Amino acid sequence: MNNSSALDPQSPQAHVIGGVGVISTVIFVLIFVIVTGAILYALFRFRGRAGEPDPKQIAENKAIEITWTVIPFLIVVFLFGLTIRAMNLADPPPPPSPDLVVTGHQFWWQANYPASGVVTANEIHIPAGKALSMRLDSKDVLHEFWVPKLNRKMTTVPGQNNHIWLQADKPGVYLGTCSEFCGTQHAWMRIVVVAEEPSKFERWQQAQLQPSQAPTRDVAVKGLALFQTSTCISCHAIRGVTGADAGVAPDLTHVASRKQLGAGILENTPANMRLWLKSPQHIKPGALMPDFNFTDEQFDQLAEYLETLR
Ligand code: CUA
Repeated sequence: MNNSSALDPQSPQAHVIGGVGVISTVIFVLIFVIVTGAILYALFRFRGRAGEPDPKQIAENKAIEITWTVIPFLIVVFLFGLTIRAMNLADPPPPPSPDLVVTGHQFWWQANYPASGVVTANEIHIPAGKALSMRLDSKDVLHEFWVPKLNRKMTTVPGQNNHIWLQADKPGVYLGTCSEFCGTQHAWMRIVVVAEEPSKFERWQQAQLQPSQAPTRDVAVKGLALFQTSTCISCHAIRGVTGADAGVAPDLTHVASRKQLGAGILENTPANMRLWLKSPQHIKPGALMPDFNFTDEQFDQLAEYLETLR
């Protein structure tokens, strides 16, 4: 089964929602079979035959009318109750302060962990088995956070915080996507949720909190200088680098530790990093990262430096 199928729930919230889907589907199929079956039966059993007299005409039948009103009413009441129960289980009210704040941007996701101070992008780590309260915000337009195996969709609205719970039963990698059209690169606004054993999550968190180390190799040192003197620094933050604290684009402090580049469009390898730096507008047209007129040597330097950001 593909790794972002809503039919394969992997959290208590997704199980509850999936349960409503399965029960509703069973009821709807039964209704379809019974109604269609009754119609077909009547069509064939009571078909008009040559020479037969007209059937007896019936004007009303209270018993049947009450039955076909009460049964659908009870089905609707049952589905209503089922839905209310699922909403209460899958979406209990949020605590006053969230564990995770996720902000939609054109075209990437920012993730902040307020308690620890971790800031990252597009790749969200969570401890397996624990429900994280997640606040959703947007910097520009409507986006929609959806990791089908873990929970329902939730829209991100500028200036209005929405809430959802993020939880995974088992360690694993769960894929998600933006599911509200938000511009040219809506399709490449992927989410990777990495659920880990709590101790491993703790180690990840500690590693993410470290500021970046100053590069030692000459090529990387030149790459850092290029980052600081070009417009990279106007958008991207790198903790540990003087002046690099802008929050417009993804935080790069540990960019090399992530699985993907460009919110899912490329696997994060050294070769792809260089490719991405060289022609982001070719790889992801309409992304807010412009193409730069650097020399090949300069692209090497920049890529080499970003690879040190583990
Ligand atoms: Cu963001 Cu679609």
